[in-house]
Amino acid sequence: MVTAQPQQVSNNTQLLRDRVVLITGASRGIGAATARLMGQHGAVVGVNYYGSEPAAQDVVESITSGGGRAMAIKADVRDPQQVDAMVQQVSDTLGTIDTLVINANANFPMAPFVDYRWEDFEAKLLGELKGAFFPCKAVVPSMIERQRGCIIAVSSGLSRDPGEGFVAHSTAKSGLDAFIKSLALELGPHNIRANVVSPGLTLTDATARLPQAHKDASAQRVPLKRNGLPEDVAGAILLLASESAGFITGAYLPVSGGVQML
Ligand SMILES: NC(=O)c1ccc[n+]([C@@H]2O[C@H](COP(=O)([O-])OP(=O)(O)OC[C@H]3O[C@@H](n4cnc5c(N)ncnc54)[C@H](OP(=O)(O)O)[C@@H]3O)[C@@H](O)[C@H]2O)c1
Repeated sequence: MVTAQPQQVSNNTQLLRDRVVLITGASRGIGAATARLMGQHGAVVGVNYYGSEPAAQDVVESITSGGGRAMAIKADVRDPQQVDAMVQQVSDTLGTIDTLVINANANFPMAPFVDYRWEDFEAKLLGELKGAFFPCKAVVPSMIERQRGCIIAVSSGLSRDPGEGFVAHSTAKSGLDAFIKSLALELGPHNIRANVVSPGLTLTDATARLPQAHKDASAQRVPLKRNGLPEDVAGAILLLASESAGFITGAYLPVSGGVQML
């Protein structure tokens, strides 16, 4: 997997100085790249992981070695008690969370609808929506109290454009999109923004087993003529989290090199 080298971002140009961010599923892939980038931009970062503690510690180390603050916290985002404990631990150690990135990957089998088992469909839907609902439940009350906050969810281009074998993923991600729009509407009066980034095919562990021919064909369909990198998605998340995006809420931002145009 290709990863960007840590960059030095001068204090003057840091976009998230002293913001406290919690990123779910930040031990690998898009979440890890987002944690690193936000850390470079001055954010204090809670790096959630589930099974990959050493990888999460590497992400923390890459932030702290550049002078930033971060901690790794284990929690299964589908479990409300673990999520509550994680949010409490981050708040006690790093400060009150003002930015939440909902990113943890809910795995699913790829199969045509006629072969899809209800159990797999249900697990994907519930995994995706629990992973958004419980972290939001845990952080929104303090955001309302402080009258500021920012929530960014990582959806998928497949939430709007279906793909063969992706019936569960498409359905779950479109539910996530609707959930975030509802939060944007209800929480806007409290100065809390909620937005979606929507990656196309991105080179991470989640796509590592796709045949190379599939990835090459996919890159050819991209107007910018390559597949996405985790850092591409991280850049879009950074922009939406920054004050420059202060009047953007309820938005759906494709990060697909032009595959998805709205
Ligand atoms: N890659 C793509 O082409 C692509 C395209 C569109 C959308 N997306 C979306 O982007 C997001 C990130 O995907 P990715 O490709 O970066 O995945 P990835 O490389 O497979 O990484 C998945 C991350 O999610 C964490 N995770 C999985 N289950 C978890 C759970 N129950 N609780 C907490 N953390 C959990 C993993 O933690 P551990 O390793 O610690 O278990 C890991 O940090 C997902 O929402 C995915 O649907 C990806």
